[in-house]
Amino acid sequence: MRASGLLRLGLLVLALAVAAAVGSHDFRRDFDVVWGEGNARFRDGGRQVELSLDERTGARLQSKERYLFGRFDLEIKLVPGESAGTITSFYICTGGARHDEVDFEFLGNASGEPYLLHTNIFSDGKGEREQQFVLWFDPTTDFHTYSILWNPHNIILYIDGTPIRVFRNNAARGVPFPARKPVHVFASIWDAEDWATQGGRVKTDWASAPFVAAYRRYNVSSSACVWDEGEGRARCPAAAGGGRRRRRQAAWMEQKMDWWSWMTLSWVRMNYMVYDYCDDRRRFPHGSPPECVIPIGRS
Ligand SMILES: *[C@@H]1O[C@H](CO)[C@@H](O)[C@H](O)[C@H]1NC(C)=O
Ligand SMILES: *[C@@H]1O[C@H](CO)[C@@H](O)[C@H](O)[C@H]1NC(C)=O
Repeated sequence: MRASGLLRLGLLVLALAVAAAVGSHDFRRDFDVVWGEGNARFRDGGRQVELSLDERTGARLQSKERYLFGRFDLEIKLVPGESAGTITSFYICTGGARHDEVDFEFLGNASGEPYLLHTNIFSDGKGEREQQFVLWFDPTTDFHTYSILWNPHNIILYIDGTPIRVFRNNAARGVPFPARKPVHVFASIWDAEDWATQGGRVKTDWASAPFVAAYRRYNVSSSACVWDEGEGRARCPAAAGGGRRRRRQAAWMEQKMDWWSWMTLSWVRMNYMVYDYCDDRRRFPHGSPPECVIPIGRS
């Protein structure tokens, strides 16, 4: 009897664990389709979503919640084959005047040619902070994890856990840093044939439409501070194992670049970065923007 009781308890725990795991990934529950309704297809009970672009429309998802700081991870499999003119994106944005925004934008290409990853960071309405990368893998054959870590110290972009870009909080040195306004999380696909591919020379080949990108594993349950619209403040999850008495901050809220992260980042910059606004003398003839000249290791 005790054994069967234990067994039943075990099964119950297992069932709850499965339900929790299933419940933690649901695009239908966590997002609204705010553009291109028919072009967002939920699969696998909402655990995966496919966004498609055809001659009629693209599609955009917007998170139902807003967040003030978080670690946002998303797995994406980009449009395979011909993808020239298309942009597949994952970004956070406050909207409104003087908005803050952090972008992953994947610029498609002619069949067989490599994708270009275009990133940008807006703070207090000012962007012009583009960095572009080629990838060290084919982003169309498998899902890869793209992450935006945003805490009071810095914004770090990661691909499969490898840091590719950092924007430190240099507010004390006069560079605005997003820290006050909550963001929505967005995922989208759209047509930008006038500039996206090889400077706009290669146009979208509509005979290859629809262009479909797949997203999965959105999970911010313990890694983002949810904005409480009523109270006008964010609720941050406590660290696991923090105990009842001492509520510690979650590790991601404290995360900064350590020695190993700087080494990895410089490997990425040396081998995969193809454009950095900080080095664009033509755009900034009177010297780089202030955040570019603050030495690494100080923040
Ligand atoms: C969602 O994230 C939390 C915290 O990172 C983790 O404990 C949980 O297992 C994740 N769920 C799934 C299904 O990955
Ligand atoms: C497309 O491929 C060309 C040729 O390999 C490359 O120069 C370009 O950066 C790629 N990406 C885009 C978006 O044009």
